[in-house]
Amino acid sequence: MTDNRPIGIFDSGIGGLTVLREILNTVPGESTIYFGDNSRAPYGTKSKSTIIRYSLQNMKFLESKDVKMIVVACNTASAYAYEELRSRAKVPVVEVVTPGADEACRATKNGKIGIIATKGTISTGVYKAAVEKRALELGLKDIEIYQQACPLFVSLAEEGWWDTEITRLTAEEYLKPLKAAGVDTLVMACTHYPLLSRVIGEVMGSKVVLVNTGVATAKVVKNLLESNGTASGTDASGCVREFYTSDEPELFEQVAAPFLGEGLPSGTKHFTTDKYEVDV
Ligand code: DGL
Repeated sequence: MTDNRPIGIFDSGIGGLTVLREILNTVPGESTIYFGDNSRAPYGTKSKSTIIRYSLQNMKFLESKDVKMIVVACNTASAYAYEELRSRAKVPVVEVVTPGADEACRATKNGKIGIIATKGTISTGVYKAAVEKRALELGLKDIEIYQQACPLFVSLAEEGWWDTEITRLTAEEYLKPLKAAGVDTLVMACTHYPLLSRVIGEVMGSKVVLVNTGVATAKVVKNLLESNGTASGTDASGCVREFYTSDEPELFEQVAAPFLGEGLPSGTKHFTTDKYEVDV
């Protein structure tokens, strides 16, 4: 059985492209529709009810495009809105928190795991709980979790300042407590942060494993497509890649292009999802 409908992916802006890139690498034969809600970003500083409303609106848009699966390529939306999305969705929904927690538990040797994310994600406690649950399932003892909100990383990533002196100084300040705690694994629990991974990696040092939740999430997508019998029947040449942003398409493409490569994104269209009525 095959299903050539696209996979729908949304994020508050460009950060979800780090997940999209891993999905394209892992299942290159799948068509994709990406929605970046740039005009309402950042999500990480907003309230739970706002994030749930935005996420439900984004899901409605993707469902209107007849997608076969929705990937919530945003940790804040995953942490706040996954349950609501899952309970109302017509198609399977994949979030990014559980796959990241799993990867972190498998990577750590000394049991000291750092989590960096937006203020919103950290304040939900969802990530910490996911790591603790996974550690228990894997029989890991004496896990220590250190969390740090790094709100400025999102603006630096959106600005395209992925490897600049300002980014380095900001990273040194934010990451100081995690280095002092001796974490050997650091979860980049925000989809924007892998854009800054060179700087984050240099500041933490080469012995610290950086977990990119996109890689782990792409594996979940692949497994789900296979187990549901909904993998596409085409190869990469037969795929469609559509991009939508709620802000300026030119701006979106300027910042996103150096990251996705190979002429992507192209033909980005403007769309706002705030017209969808949702009950929250
Ligand atoms: N995409 C968000 C996340 O992964 C970060 C950016 C934002 O705050 O909107 O948490």
